[in-house]
Amino acid sequence: MNKIEQIRKWKREKDVVILAHYYVEGDVQEIADYVGDSFALAKAAAKVAQKNILFAGVSFMGESAKLLNPQKHVYMVDETAGCPMADMVTADQVRQIRAKYPDAAVVCYVNSSAEVKAESDVCVTSSNALKVTGNLTQKQIYFIPDSHLAHFTAKKLPEKEFIFHDGYCPTHQEIKRDFLANMKAKHPNAPVLAHPECSDEILELSDYVGSTADIIRFAGESDAEEYIIATETGVFHPLQKENPGKKFYSVISSQVCPDMKKVTLEKVAYVLEHLNEQTEIVLEDSIMERAKLPLEKMLQLASL
Ligand code: 13P
Ligand code: SF4
Repeated sequence: MNKIEQIRKWKREKDVVILAHYYVEGDVQEIADYVGDSFALAKAAAKVAQKNILFAGVSFMGESAKLLNPQKHVYMVDETAGCPMADMVTADQVRQIRAKYPDAAVVCYVNSSAEVKAESDVCVTSSNALKVTGNLTQKQIYFIPDSHLAHFTAKKLPEKEFIFHDGYCPTHQEIKRDFLANMKAKHPNAPVLAHPECSDEILELSDYVGSTADIIRFAGESDAEEYIIATETGVFHPLQKENPGKKFYSVISSQVCPDMKKVTLEKVAYVLEHLNEQTEIVLEDSIMERAKLPLEKMLQLASL
């Protein structure tokens, strides 16, 4: 039996569903039951029937799956895969923000720890930040931790008063204006599709800004033959698979998230074989109870 067959057999025998983010390697995306952006994966996690979830992504994604599905066991393919942006805000900082801005809604990008979510009013992802924030009754918004997604959202919601945090994604931050200008000069007919975690100078030069799933959808529906992609290179797998006649270029070769790349097919097989507590997500009950509320509020406000 080869590795893929073995993985499928263990999945069935052990009642495991695999959820994978678009940034993990293509071979891992291929064996997953659901592949998606962080919003789609959160929605899938809230609904799956299997008693075990194996998460091919980074820790905040596995934690969100656990918070939305507390009775299930959630395992990470690599428990050390984190998100540096999520570490750019702490629960203590949120408590200080609340004391300083008592009227503000604390809007927390899902790229954050469960402890930070527990102190927040509502979560958002890159695909629903506009809708969820727009649906809040509060006028003042303290948006954590990503300053780029916050500025992108603030521009579209002039009726709200935004206060910004200073977090950022190191991978998207590396994509600079000069590199993009150079690629645009080489491929003048290629629309630029960018993730809102890119800095303002990149978003200004882009033809479309959206989540990973939005970028994939846009490329599938557009007639252009080539595209410049300003986000992590994992999206090239679905882009190329779904659009074999189209060409996709990265802005720089290093738009790679080192944490997402810790997730490999070998580790999927190993974790499935053992399914032990080493990679299982365990959260304190008091954090669980409070941290699931902003996620549930996100699901509710995004569905209005
Ligand atoms: P998406 O919500 O677009 O999947 O993005 C998640 C992420 O971590 C981007 O860096
Ligand atoms: Fe975090 Fe950036 Fe990696 Fe997304 S790409 S998981 S924001 S470090």
